[in-house]
Amino acid sequence: MNAFRLTRTLPADATAAALRGDVLHGLTSTPKTLPPTWFYDARGSEIFEAITQIPEYPVWRAELGLLRQHAEAIALRTGARTLIELGSGAYSAKTRHLLDALTGLHAYVPVDVCESALRQAGQALIVERPGLTVHALVADFTSVLALPDTPGPKLLAFLGSTIGNFLPAERAAFLSCLSALLSPGDALLLGADLVKDEAALVAAYDDPAGLTSDFNKNVLRVINSRLDADFDPDAFEHVALFDTAHEWIEMRLRSLVDQTVKIRALDLAVDFSAGEDLCTEISAKFRREGLAAELAAAGLELAHWFTGPGQEYGLALAVPRRPGADRPPAGRSTACVS
Ligand code: AVJ
Repeated sequence: MNAFRLTRTLPADATAAALRGDVLHGLTSTPKTLPPTWFYDARGSEIFEAITQIPEYPVWRAELGLLRQHAEAIALRTGARTLIELGSGAYSAKTRHLLDALTGLHAYVPVDVCESALRQAGQALIVERPGLTVHALVADFTSVLALPDTPGPKLLAFLGSTIGNFLPAERAAFLSCLSALLSPGDALLLGADLVKDEAALVAAYDDPAGLTSDFNKNVLRVINSRLDADFDPDAFEHVALFDTAHEWIEMRLRSLVDQTVKIRALDLAVDFSAGEDLCTEISAKFRREGLAAELAAAGLELAHWFTGPGQEYGLALAVPRRPGADRPPAGRSTACVS
């Protein structure tokens, strides 16, 4: 029996087309923006992994600790026979905790845009866990997902507080899409970094060693190499600020000088004035009540909330709302973020 299967739902050139579209749209908008997706080439992923290890950035460690401590409770509450993980990336210690705890598991469905990460993780897993079927999906989880036919109950995991990268309206649409993937008996496991002391929040995105600055500027290197552009990363300054009204961290790249950048593959010249910001990421911070309300609006009920003593981070276990329970207001868009 072949325990590893991989399905490609992304056309081979989809990523290139998405990058071109995002750069063209984002750099000709006011203010200029780029989505955080494009930080993560090989170098960007390496820098991010280094960030997860620094003391200033508690997000990754906090979630790992919660999973270590509560994976068994999650397994007992869900009885999951299929684990679906969105943005699974490389086979991580977090996934391992869930797989160890889910003793009745039949299938693991990692979903990622990176085929090589999926292949590596899949090969390691089928050796480590004979009997487990790994059905990897090369897909962009922000578009409509066609999940393989695997046994329920299903546990859909979206970890790392990546949910924070969406704007509120996108988040509502995305949560509705996740909700639509779940049947009664299934569950969503959602990791969310929580609102905390502002200085600590900002420090997590502006570390003294400059890793986050390097990570932020990596998006410029990605555009240089993939779209034949001439960004000078040294001509931009890393900025991290906490927007208290929206309760999100904003990362920006601030132009140090008046400059014109050429993006040859798009036949585009982009002017930056000194002091002008390019917004590269928002990372929203959550509160339990707010997240419960957002889940409810998507037809999900917060069934359990796992958090540590310092309330740094929350893991929400949410289930489809019982029929007959109050319906969310109708008329909101159900389209997925594309
Ligand atoms: C992977 C999106 C959760 O927003 O904290 C880390 C990315 N950006 N440092 C986050 C990130 C700057 C991270 N997420």
